[in-house]
Amino acid sequence: MSLYSILIFLHSIIRWLLLLGLLWSIFVAIRGYFSGLAFSKSHNALRHWTATMSHFQLMVGFTLYTQSPLVQYFFTNAKSATLTDISFFSIIHGSLMLTAIALITIGSALAKRKTDSRDKFKTVAIFYSIALIIILIAIPWPFSPLAQRPYIRLF
Ligand code: HEM
Repeated sequence: MSLYSILIFLHSIIRWLLLLGLLWSIFVAIRGYFSGLAFSKSHNALRHWTATMSHFQLMVGFTLYTQSPLVQYFFTNAKSATLTDISFFSIIHGSLMLTAIALITIGSALAKRKTDSRDKFKTVAIFYSIALIIILIAIPWPFSPLAQRPYIRLF
């Protein structure tokens, strides 16, 4: 079992945990905003752990970037690369995901600093929703027109 296969496995699994965290955070934030709830400790923990999950995925993604034969091929044959899996993973995927994770980080930090519960819910709802849309576009779903990978990766 190579480092590369372990990283791909982790990267594929964490995708689902992060998507669940984002969906749950957004749902809870919208409900909290419209129901006038107080931003509780559990809301705060959800905000925090979802952002942490995205940072973990970022670290695995960066390490994967240094190990992936696709990316290595891109950098040795960049001139001949067209929009294939190779250029998708070497340029588009990482850039979009980095943007999404930056939005999650900024949204989480801003929400933490707000004092009013409604403002906190609103900030999480807006930043996490935009990040989720970008992530959904950049994931190589089996039906994506950009690049395709399985829903679940086993060793
Ligand atoms: C929200 C963040 C991210 C999500 C949800 C995500 C999701 C995924 C998924 C589902 C795959 C396919 C895994 C498989 O083959 O089963 C993948 C592949 C890959 N990701 Fe990410 N990714 C994220 C961030 C990043 C970042 C920041 C980088 C690095 C800059 C990165 C680099 C890669 C590379 C290099 C591959 C393909 C490797 C290969 O096939 O050789 N990812 N990603």
